[in-house]
Amino acid sequence: MFLFITTLLITLYYLFKKPRENKNLSVPSGPRGLPLLGNILQLGDRPHEKMFEWSKSYGPIFRIYLGSEQVVVLNGADIVREAFIENGEEFAGRPKLYMIHATLKGKGLISSPYNSDFNEHKKFLQSSLNKFGRRRSSLEVNCLQTIRETLDEYRERIDNNFEYTNKQMRNNISRIASQNVLTMTFGTRMHDKKLFSHLMDLITENFENTAVAAAFNFLPITRMFKTFILRNVLRCSEFLNNLISEKLEEYHEDMDQFDLPSEKYESNIIECYLKELLNSVCLYDKTIAESFYATDRSASYNFLSRRLTEKRRSSLSIELVNNMNKIRRKSRYMSFSFDHLSSIVQDLFIAGTETISTSLNWALIYAAKYLDYQDKLVAEIENVLGKEKLPTESDRSKLNFVQAFLNETMRIISAGPILVPRSTTRDVVFRGYKIPENTFIMANIWSCMRDPNYWSEPNEFRPERFLDQNGNFVCKNPAMMPFSIGKRACIGENIARLQMYLIFTSLLQKFHFSFANDSDLNDEKLMKGIPGVGLSPPHVSLKLRLR
Ligand code: HEM
Repeated sequence: MFLFITTLLITLYYLFKKPRENKNLSVPSGPRGLPLLGNILQLGDRPHEKMFEWSKSYGPIFRIYLGSEQVVVLNGADIVREAFIENGEEFAGRPKLYMIHATLKGKGLISSPYNSDFNEHKKFLQSSLNKFGRRRSSLEVNCLQTIRETLDEYRERIDNNFEYTNKQMRNNISRIASQNVLTMTFGTRMHDKKLFSHLMDLITENFENTAVAAAFNFLPITRMFKTFILRNVLRCSEFLNNLISEKLEEYHEDMDQFDLPSEKYESNIIECYLKELLNSVCLYDKTIAESFYATDRSASYNFLSRRLTEKRRSSLSIELVNNMNKIRRKSRYMSFSFDHLSSIVQDLFIAGTETISTSLNWALIYAAKYLDYQDKLVAEIENVLGKEKLPTESDRSKLNFVQAFLNETMRIISAGPILVPRSTTRDVVFRGYKIPENTFIMANIWSCMRDPNYWSEPNEFRPERFLDQNGNFVCKNPAMMPFSIGKRACIGENIARLQMYLIFTSLLQKFHFSFANDSDLNDEKLMKGIPGVGLSPPHVSLKLRLR
């Protein structure tokens, strides 16, 4: 009885408690919400469409409540550009998202607040990904190898009259993208099939749980169900951490040195990271050694990591700190640590696999829906590559319609219609409204890519909008932002575009895609997708026929 009354009182308290209102926030209010839940139920199963609809009544910037959290919503290309480009630093924060923070701990990029650690890691990853994404790089070679294997697998199955469900198709593309992330981070694909399948299961499980995990951010009461989901996420991060530790074993000998051989450490992200990390530790060690004649140069990775943290925290004489600060400035990346390394590797798997498979899966669905466009794509591919030669980066500029088609797909569906939440890094006056530091910000990029001020007939699928009058591919519309914009924009855009082009072109060159079930063809509701954290393709099956 006592328990019942207590539960009842707590429930009533939460139901009738007024949401926390921030008096310093002067952004106009959006629709009235319910106690405890705020506007969560009104957002329905298509939050991006609902927010866009609300923007017509409340203006392009308004506030809503998600649970008791006050959130500022940005809609339309003008306002998103003004916030993320003109006020880039102010809107570059990341709020503490419950699940992401539990695993990535604010390290790396995705979960990191906007600070110098974030900037150093973003700069490092941007330059590394550019290096590995360059023409004829190992990325291209490895990607084509995985594509060949997938094509062979499809051929075999087609002989047995196989129809692909979207889920299978997506898993296949995810496998190609994951092997590419492995190539960039570890320098090689994962050849052990059992181990790779285990990794894929862990990644898929995590994605399937992300929508539930999102509720943890706004409805603390749901966190009582966290144990199972957290266990899955932690299993995946533990698996990756083991891979990283094994990889680091390869470098133990060199870790004994203060000076690293410069010609090494260039072929994958872990090597490049280690090189920068050791350089900064070495600079640090040299200073300590010179001052204290310290000689301990243990090679162990754990030891170095611990020592790095200990030394940074140790109290040192002012003279030595001044001396070290001079030396620190010579090193570009003073925040590097093994925790950060673990988080950036996880970031790459989180951000660089499902996004590609979702976008490509949509592109194949659109190719199956609009068979005239598919014919046009194939004519262009055969004209440039013939029937056998697989595409390479150097052919890309000649495949204008392929590029236009992929861009139109990303415009009309946006793999992530509402961006991962941001927060304000300081108090800001934006469009005359006061927005205090640490306010939760949600940007609806789906609304930018359907913004009628920037696109004619925005709801129509028309790849031609990305072609000029000579049929050349052009992508200059400022409202086109599938990879977001500003300080927190995607770092993987170039390699994502390369992979999408390689995979899509190879598949269409060899196979004809059509809907297995004719009634799906005209079902417009299906083409709206299934919203979760991203906008997933509908549950349909595609029929493949050899060309
Ligand atoms: C079609 C594929 C992809 C799409 C549509 C996409 C889109 C996005 C978007 C919309 C963001 C959010 C930016 C924001 O908060 O404003 C993002 C962030 C990010 N993406 Fe991608 N992405 C793709 C592929 C990739 C790939 C292949 C990688 C790397 C291997 C990658 C790495 C990242 C990282 C690390 C971030 C976090 C950046 C930050 O917080 O500063 N993405 N991506």
